[in-house]
Amino acid sequence: MATSAPAPDEVRTSAPKATDKIPDVPGLPLLGNTLEMARDPAAFFLRAYRDYGPVYRVNVFGRRTIVIAGPEASTFMTTRDGRDSLRSKEFWGDFVDFHGASKTLTGEDGKTHEKLRRIMRHGFSKAAVAGQYHRLAQITDEAIERDWLSRPQVPVVEAYQYLIVAQLGEIMTGHAPLEYVPDIRLNILYLLNTLVARTRPKILLHRPEFKRANARVNELGRDMIAEFKGHAAAGTLPSNLLGDIMHAHETDPDLIQERDLALLLTGPYVAGLDTVANTIAAATYGILKTPGVLERVQAEADALYAKDVVTEQDIHNLPAINGAIMEAMRLWPIAVAQMRTAIEDFSFAGYTIPAGEMIYIGTSVPHFMEEYFPEPERFDIDRYQRPRAEHLQKGAYSPFGRGPHSCLGQSLAEVQMAATVSRIFHRLDLALPSPDYVLKTKSAPTPGPSMDFKVRVLGERRPARALKPEQREEKSDG
Ligand code: HEM
Repeated sequence: MATSAPAPDEVRTSAPKATDKIPDVPGLPLLGNTLEMARDPAAFFLRAYRDYGPVYRVNVFGRRTIVIAGPEASTFMTTRDGRDSLRSKEFWGDFVDFHGASKTLTGEDGKTHEKLRRIMRHGFSKAAVAGQYHRLAQITDEAIERDWLSRPQVPVVEAYQYLIVAQLGEIMTGHAPLEYVPDIRLNILYLLNTLVARTRPKILLHRPEFKRANARVNELGRDMIAEFKGHAAAGTLPSNLLGDIMHAHETDPDLIQERDLALLLTGPYVAGLDTVANTIAAATYGILKTPGVLERVQAEADALYAKDVVTEQDIHNLPAINGAIMEAMRLWPIAVAQMRTAIEDFSFAGYTIPAGEMIYIGTSVPHFMEEYFPEPERFDIDRYQRPRAEHLQKGAYSPFGRGPHSCLGQSLAEVQMAATVSRIFHRLDLALPSPDYVLKTKSAPTPGPSMDFKVRVLGERRPARALKPEQREEKSDG
């Protein structure tokens, strides 16, 4: 049994309080806290943390669920107690069953999870785009022609969704399945809402629009399996995520079973589509809304693309652009809370959390606390520079989650987002619909800017000058 949580001293007591002492956050009759949570989950978790401390119980979507929140909870997830006490299995079970699969990365824990992560680590890392920044720029230019210059107002989240699928598809398969974007989006929306977050009833899965989208994503999965089986037979499996998955299926068919392939091969779209598109849409808003930021982003982007060759180092060396993306992830986190089950009784911040309880872990709460991020509502792209480095305080900043299930695509997402935002602002003169425009947000299936957030394309700032490929020495940087 896990006995001690590394909570700050002021919340730790020597004799843990019983579960029935966990404070309930009062809500409406029947609905409980559902409306407040649906309106703005991050604000709700923060308010409850302020009012009740790092452990409280909410009543949302017809379920009473324990929340552990704040820097204490973020830190706890990375400790041995946290690893031993929490698991993801229960939340993903219905999703895995729906696909007729035996497992998926997000729903496994312990040794099997470690094995799966090892197989996919390289393919999901920034190594996947090493030497391909010229391609990322070219794909972005194609999207600019297709989706941005062709209309005066662009729905930002949707336009980025197409761009992300094009990039991930090219990187991982050499082919961008753009014709499947609406289906992938709809599929994710329904499956995450009904089977994982369980904020909508399962009956919705009988709707014809979902069935159609699901059949199309299955078709994409079948095509990808056929293509990669062909590669495996010909001995031409590429060294990328899909190649690595297919190779593992051949060498360890019990671990990666035939029935797991479709889910695993289409996984990057599920993991990358909403997350990246929402985040760079939010960054786009912050850049256009905050006085003085646009000029700095443009200057940095212009200096970057004045080069003939762009390297990973160049992408990391963009303080204004990377600062804007980090601010977007702080203020509009795509994972406001992580969902887990208690494997065993454990003690946290002076309470006993009983085995079997479903738990929300409010890792984004500190993002909005002035103790960690002064003037937390301000989009301040310089927070992350030393000596301030506000995100490095213990438990303060967790946009990619914490612990064993933390984002496997983090390093890939970081360079993909910086390369994309820089190219968009280098090429295009953008503006908000009006200077006093205020971003509206959505909370499902992934929190982020609402789908009707549009920007005006005032014109083209710079032409689409092609980059030269980077000459790289072969090295195995996973
Ligand atoms: C802004 C971009 C992104 C953010 C903020 C983000 C955030 C997250 C978070 C918070 C988790 C943990 C969920 C949990 O603990 O329950 C996660 C997991 C994961 N992410 Fe990301 N993600 C991003 C982009 C991507 C991309 C582009 C990929 C790959 C193409 C990716 C692949 C994954 C995978 C495979 C996992 C599951 C890891 C596991 O269960 O072991 N992510 N991500």
